[in-house]
Amino acid sequence: MSKSSMTYISSGKAKDIYETSNGNLLFEFTDRVTAFDGKKKAEYQEKGEITCRLAEYWFSILEAEGIPTHYINCPTPTSMLVRYLDIIPVEVIRRNYAAGSLLRRYDAGEVELPQGVEPEEGAPIPGGMIEFTTKFEAVDRPVDMKEILFNGWMSKEEIEYITGLTERINEILSCELNDAGIILADFKVEYGRTPDGKIILADEVGTPDGCRFWDKTEFENGTIKSLDKDVFRKGTGDLSIVYGELFERLQKQEEM
Ligand code: TMP
Ligand code: ASP
Repeated sequence: MSKSSMTYISSGKAKDIYETSNGNLLFEFTDRVTAFDGKKKAEYQEKGEITCRLAEYWFSILEAEGIPTHYINCPTPTSMLVRYLDIIPVEVIRRNYAAGSLLRRYDAGEVELPQGVEPEEGAPIPGGMIEFTTKFEAVDRPVDMKEILFNGWMSKEEIEYITGLTERINEILSCELNDAGIILADFKVEYGRTPDGKIILADEVGTPDGCRFWDKTEFENGTIKSLDKDVFRKGTGDLSIVYGELFERLQKQEEM
């Protein structure tokens, strides 16, 4: 499928989006990476291919486990065809361990941690927690159930439905990753509505751009070794090497 037969729609932080002649979307995974709301930017060779192949890997596993997703197929190593959806303007974040903006907001007095959770990176969150943020605002901002309902973004039943799906995705990803010696600290997912109103998983899932992955052995020895975008956010490692290592470990796991 050549790009000339498609209509360019938009570019996100890491993906370019096209519409195909039959109304599907094509995601082109680029080598771009950004953090801190676009303030930090770079490009890393092969990032596009690794993130595309990882998203494909997880979509296939989730579909096989009965999670409905927008994934169709990958026509090239860096592109993914997906169904067109009406995207719900709310991002869903599931946390198993304290990290990132949760701790930043805690330090700023903007959020309370669940009872018994230590305010430090790597502190386990028993039972986990789910947070919602805005999607189509200049800067993602946490939103609560009341505001989601008030804005008509989702009904109470829909919030419960996507919460259940997100919990199931957490179980499936965590279990697969655990077998590869990796901890799923947290992740973000998005959902959209099909023309007949069904809610299904959208965007990408299980990539190191949208998840925090920690090496399990290092963690058990008291160190956090990130296999995700935190190496870029914090400037602690080479993103290409880290993403490549994650990909290889999951591939090895698949072959076993
Ligand atoms: P946070 O700690 O910055 O809130 O991020 C939690 C998880 O969600 C982390 O794995 C990164 C992911 N995430 C995204 O992929 N995109 C986003 O816009 C945000 C806010 C988080
Ligand atoms: N919203 C965050 C940012 O743009 C997402 C991230 O860091 O992954 O910085």
